[in-house]
Amino acid sequence: MAARHIEADTPELRARWGSFAWTDENAAQAEKIIARYPEGRQRSAVMPLLDLAQRQVGAQTGTQGWLPIPVMEYVADCLAMPAIRVVEVATFYTMYNLAPVGKFHVQVCGTTPCMLRGSDAVMATCRARGMAVGQTTPDGMWTLTEVECLGSCATAPMVQINDDNYEDLTPERLDAVLNALAAGTTPEAGTQEPGRHTSEPVGGPTTLREMVDANHDYRSDW
Ligand code: FES
Repeated sequence: MAARHIEADTPELRARWGSFAWTDENAAQAEKIIARYPEGRQRSAVMPLLDLAQRQVGAQTGTQGWLPIPVMEYVADCLAMPAIRVVEVATFYTMYNLAPVGKFHVQVCGTTPCMLRGSDAVMATCRARGMAVGQTTPDGMWTLTEVECLGSCATAPMVQINDDNYEDLTPERLDAVLNALAAGTTPEAGTQEPGRHTSEPVGGPTTLREMVDANHDYRSDW
């Protein structure tokens, strides 16, 4: 289960983030997002605006980004809604970081399909590289979080790192992904299983084989 806490609301936090405001580019983007919703329903934009704010904080800190309380209050002001309603949304979804994170946020799925397919070894690989759950490494590179199912069970075990999923992991494959990120390159996201394209059966189709090369009408087979 993801351990989450809201970063304390301190004078230092206020001094750093109390004057948060959209960049010109994000102000235009926020306006566009809010305009998607009917008059009187602008609060529905809270999730994309929180995401936008987190990305702006990320750009300003060289990290994946997070949501200091003054930034959540800023989003609340933009939408004319009580700040507590924004905090309720931000605390519900693990996609929002409530405390500072590193450049790369490694979210390891530990739910049953991933656990049965090797998430313990995936987690051990992260620990062997100096990561600890709920913490950021001293060099600011990695934050490790254990999360619940991220919806890629067919390619378990998997991790999400910032915006990308890396799937069909083994300790060696995860090491290769982390080494590539540390070296400043972008490893190919998705399955890391050689020969597998997405989530189709490993080794090729096991059903509807006649459909592989051309459309096939199965009705006469029934
Ligand atoms: S259980 Fe890990 S992605 Fe679903």
